[in-house]
Amino acid sequence: MSFGCNMVPSPRNSVIKTPIFILLGACALGMLLYKLRLRLQLSRAKHRSLTGHARMARRFARLVPFYEYGDAKFFRVDEAPDDVAAARRGGFMRLAATFAERNKKNAKLTDTVIAGISDLQFTARYRVPFQFSGFVRQHLKVGAFVESSSGVSITDLDGNRLYDLTGSYGVNVFGYDFYKDCIARGSERVRDLGPVLGAYHPATAYNVRRLLEISGLDEVSFHMSGTEAVMQAVRLARYHTRRSHLARFCGAYHGWWGDVQPGVGNPLAARDTYTLKDLDDAALRVLKSRRDIACVLVNPLQALHLNISAPGDSTLIDSGRSAHFDRAAYSRWLGKLRAVCSERGIVLIFDEVLVGFRLAPGGAQEYFGVRADMVTYGKTVAGGLPVGVLCGRREIMRRFFDDRPADICFARGTFNAHPYVMGAMCEFLQRLDSDAVRALYHGLGVWDQRAQAVNERLSAAQLPLQVANLSTIWTICYTRPSRYNWMLQYYLRAAGLALSWVGTGRLIFSLNYTAEEFTEVADRILSAARAMQQDGWWWTPPGLTNQSIRRGILKEMIQARCSSPIGSMSSPRSK
Ligand SMILES: Cc1ncc(COP(=O)(O)O)c(C=O)c1O
Repeated sequence: MSFGCNMVPSPRNSVIKTPIFILLGACALGMLLYKLRLRLQLSRAKHRSLTGHARMARRFARLVPFYEYGDAKFFRVDEAPDDVAAARRGGFMRLAATFAERNKKNAKLTDTVIAGISDLQFTARYRVPFQFSGFVRQHLKVGAFVESSSGVSITDLDGNRLYDLTGSYGVNVFGYDFYKDCIARGSERVRDLGPVLGAYHPATAYNVRRLLEISGLDEVSFHMSGTEAVMQAVRLARYHTRRSHLARFCGAYHGWWGDVQPGVGNPLAARDTYTLKDLDDAALRVLKSRRDIACVLVNPLQALHLNISAPGDSTLIDSGRSAHFDRAAYSRWLGKLRAVCSERGIVLIFDEVLVGFRLAPGGAQEYFGVRADMVTYGKTVAGGLPVGVLCGRREIMRRFFDDRPADICFARGTFNAHPYVMGAMCEFLQRLDSDAVRALYHGLGVWDQRAQAVNERLSAAQLPLQVANLSTIWTICYTRPSRYNWMLQYYLRAAGLALSWVGTGRLIFSLNYTAEEFTEVADRILSAARAMQQDGWWWTPPGLTNQSIRRGILKEMIQARCSSPIGSMSSPRSK
């Protein structure tokens, strides 16, 4: 028997082989070019910022060295003259004295527990840019404990009443008394059943019916948090499409699960996630051409700050924060997205955990006039108790196939559809139909007028800030380059306004603010900003720009990195 390797190729063999090689080579080249095209398309669809490049952002974050400004530099990082630095120091120490006087009990209790609550350590550290954080924590003690709520205010442990602008992370849409009532009556409703799990309290049937009416979808699943509802939506989309990847838009928050948080904050790379530019046709081209995309997640809040992460004061290193809401443009964009998803069999998921029930009774779908295949709700929908809800079209909500009994999509949770949560949700959903709530929804237009009025007052007073809003969700932007904008959160607090740990990045109003209460808040915003201006924080040296600030900080970082190379640097953990 003779083997091919010993054969002398006949002219006939080489004639046959040559075209096969050429053909294979051409195929390989074609494939390579196709892959290159897809890769190039993906690169074009990424936002140019670090937020748009998750992997790079995580690498960069690991390189940022810890350093901080001591007592002297704290007040003059912008080379302010002596009198300005002294005015700043005076203002700062006055605030410190005010907080020390007002927050005695609160600060003491906070100090005793902080070492045992990791969440509190995190939020305390990241209220302001890290270079300033140690000094601020040492002097401006605000305390973490609140004792009661009423109307639009909360009262802290020392009895200070503050107007609530935290919105309890968005849970509080209709006012705290509304939720107290939902919880009390909901608990009453399910009292006889108590904490029996697995079986459903009959209130659940009502909730399902109402959620389907509101979402316009076919099926519901209950979860314990918004994060879990999003996880389930993505899992189902992958199961039914048999595709691996999810697409999200740059900067959008969808909870803290790894796949939807591919950048800083997640120790692992999210390999099956595409982060695309919001409101950009390049993103549509990626959706149109890739075959591995199971779903697209949309957080409609991004309409307020496209391609930017949730604005927090810990990243307020200059005045570059920007926000602007254009409802018509965003509605058109969602319409285009809807069309591409339908064409390509991609599941379109609206993550309405924050904005659902806040923008309109039918949520973002109603507000923007676009229907999704799946919608997640959370926060407010359980009348103040913890929850996540997923609504979706029947064919993508199913967790099994009739013809493949072993091929299931598993999702169970011990506390899903907990009777107390269902009771409070039932109360919440029933109240949506009340005249009082309808009136609040009818009056939603007033929030744009209120924002405009505040901006006019700020401009008239020549204060370097403006607000931008998506209805009752506001953010403060700064109009003159400065390194100290984050100080405003402490002036606002001293003026009796409660902010969440992200400070002036996000103010959330409940819809029940009366005109008088709102005017009081606006007055306080103005007086706080005036006090901050008088204390010299917004003094700016000639020629200062946001870019020059960023360049200066980069220089500081390089110096800090060079003076303490990786490995030898003291970790902020230990500080
Ligand atoms: C749009 C969006 N999705 C998901 C989540 C996560 O919800 P939860 O904090 O209940 O897990 C949030 C929370 O802020 C959110 O705003």
